[in-house]
Amino acid sequence: MAQSLRRVTILDLAAAKRNRRPLTMVTAYDWPTGLLVDASGVDCVLVGDSVAMVVAGRSSTIPATLEQMIYHGEIVARAAARAMVVVDLPFPFQHLGVRTAIESCARLLKETGCQAVKLEGTAGQADVIAGIVAAGIPVMGHVGLRPQAVHQLGGYRMQRDIDAIMADARAAADAGAFAVVLECIPQDVARSITESVAIPTIGIGAGPACDGQVLVLHDLVGLSMDRVPKFVRAYADAKASIADGLSRWRHDVEQRTFPGKTETLG
Ligand code: KIV
Repeated sequence: MAQSLRRVTILDLAAAKRNRRPLTMVTAYDWPTGLLVDASGVDCVLVGDSVAMVVAGRSSTIPATLEQMIYHGEIVARAAARAMVVVDLPFPFQHLGVRTAIESCARLLKETGCQAVKLEGTAGQADVIAGIVAAGIPVMGHVGLRPQAVHQLGGYRMQRDIDAIMADARAAADAGAFAVVLECIPQDVARSITESVAIPTIGIGAGPACDGQVLVLHDLVGLSMDRVPKFVRAYADAKASIADGLSRWRHDVEQRTFPGKTETLG
């Protein structure tokens, strides 16, 4: 049966939580990955600021700029016809006051065609989330390990301040976020949050009790150039496949077996 092309909305995500249907979200950064991730049938495509790490080879997400997120967001939003496309608000726009945050999120929506923004924040950013939501922009929160705060958190490590994590997730929900990413937190904490907030929780390194799961595409398909976190399961070996193709092509050129008759035009 042909898959309907109706766009996934925040109402579908809320219904999934009510019906206990697990949600799926994967990152994409460009035209081919946007097309492939959307075609896989996931609920959400995330244009993550992880683009700075997995695409640009930076050591954190901090260097990602608003212009870069708009550039990648616009490409992915054009590629994805069915999934809800969520784009990351890069550092530090959620910390510059409600007005600047609204202006930045409005640019992300207007100039990319994405349907929602994700922002990392603690309970301290509740007023910012509330302001963006009041402007009619759907917000996905992101608590626990907040990669933009990696230097303050002392590295990419499991977050164990249970009270703070619970308070941050509840604050995001109370402020009007439609979903919240829980990153690198103990599974019992993720379960408690999932049971106590009305919005869907989407986990990464947060165990199986979340309402959904998210992974970085390059980790999922074995294309990451850096150390892969322990919570990742790779479902393909894209790096080996690409390396093999490249080395066979080089070999064939050196042996003068490429191009052959069928690849020669005249
Ligand atoms: O930027 C990103 O890819 C993310 C995911 C890890 C959730 O925020």
